[in-house]
Formats: sequence, structure tokens, C-alpha cells
Amino acid sequence: MNNTKPIGLFDSGIGGTSIWREIHDLLPNEDTIYLADSRNAPYGQKSKDEIIELSIKNTEYLLNQNAKIIVVACNTATTNAIKELRAKYDVPFIGIEPAIKPAAIHSEKHVIGILATEGTLNSELFHETAGKFQDTKIIEQIGHRLVPLIEQGEMNSKEMDLLLHQYLQPMIDANIDYLVLGCSHYPYLIPQIQKILPKEIKIIDSGEAVARQTKSILSEKNALNLGKDKGEAVFYTNSNPKVLTEILGHQYPVIVKDF
Ligand code: DGL
Repeated sequence: MNNTKPIGLFDSGIGGTSIWREIHDLLPNEDTIYLADSRNAPYGQKSKDEIIELSIKNTEYLLNQNAKIIVVACNTATTNAIKELRAKYDVPFIGIEPAIKPAAIHSEKHVIGILATEGTLNSELFHETAGKFQDTKIIEQIGHRLVPLIEQGEMNSKEMDLLLHQYLQPMIDANIDYLVLGCSHYPYLIPQIQKILPKEIKIIDSGEAVARQTKSILSEKNALNLGKDKGEAVFYTNSNPKVLTEILGHQYPVIVKDF
């Protein structure tokens, strides 16, 4: 069977494009629709109920656009709302969670760091996952202000550099050998983070794993687009499109819409 409906993705803003990129690379002939809910960013400090409400709003919009699967390209929305979304809708959902498992399994020092939003680090789902690795010390750090700065395109600002030093130094001192990026915005900070961390500390995120999981669920449900043409990618934002357009290298249409 050939299913030409689009893959829908949403995030609190532009960060989930790091996940979109992985999906687009792995499944280049799939059409994709991406929602950047930047007007409501950051999600990280909102209550669980607010995050569920926003996630429902985004899901409904994508379902109205005929999405065959929804990728929740946001750790905060996944850890706070995916159970509710799965209970409410029949469409398959792919979530993104911090890559604690691969980091803990491969860590030789049994000390890893995680940088994520307050909403993710305080969620039940995160605690469930982290609790499975009792022999690994997990240094948690909330990335206060990082998402708003990324949304403003200030990845390389002085403030960003100061915050990253402040958040990463205690992890370096604690002797981590893995840093987990637990927010889909943070891959846009990898060059800056690499300048601060000693070379032997590995940085991991969940983008590739999410793309593989999306492919495997679509294949299992006979819902892959088997056509040979390159898929169409459309991006919606409910805020200023400037930074989103820039991080997409001005290669894709960005539509401003009130969703
Ligand atoms: N990209 C979202 C995440 O992965 C950022 C959440 C926020 O807006 O605070 O958690």
C-alpha cells in the first residue's frame, strides 16, 4: 500500500526542526508538515495541563491537514502529554525523550549529564526512565533561558555563552563522559557546547532514534510513501518567521498562521 499523506510534526518552536531534519534525511520522499508553536514558547515552565492543552491544539491542526502520524518533536510535550494524546486519538504518535538509556549504557564513568527543560526534568516519564539506571549518576541541569534565546536566533550571543558555561561546568567537575541534550532546541547549540566541553565528553540527542522509530512504525502500519518523488516540506509558525526561515537555510516555505 502507498500512503501519500504527510507526516505531521510539532514543537513549542523552531527546535523540533532538528528532528524534522533527521526524518527528512531518512525518509526523503515523505511529505512533512511542521508546526512551530513559537507564540507559546517556551513550554518548559508551563504546567502539565497547559502543555496537554497546547499539544491537543497542535495535534488537531495537524490532523486537519491529514497527517498520518504525529511526531511530537518536543521532549517537554512528550514527557508531559503523550499518554493523553495516545488515549485521545487513533493516529500513531512518536515521542522524543532524552537519550538517557544509550548514555547510561555506554558511560564508562557511570556519570552522565542531562540538559533539559524544567518540564521535562520534573515529569513522571523522565523519572521513570532515569530510575532504571540506578548504577549511573545523572547530573540534571535545567536549561533556563536557552529556548527563548534560540527562538530569538541568539545561539552565539554572550548571554548564551555565559549560561552554557554556568550549566556545563558543574557537569565537567562531576566528571561526566556523556552529555544528553534533552530538548530538541539544543542540537542548535552543539558547536558552542563543544567549545566548552573537554573533547572526550560525548554529546548525544535523540533525533536519529526518533527518525528510525518513525520509519519503523510507518512500515509496520503499511503507511510509508513508496513514491519516488522528493517529498514536500511545509512549515507553519504562529510567530515571527525570521529565525525559522534562517535555520532552514531559506530553502523551504514558512507560512505564518494563527493556529
Ligand atoms: N523543544 C522543546 C523540548 O524539546 C522545548 C521546550 C520549551 O519550549 O521549553 O523540550
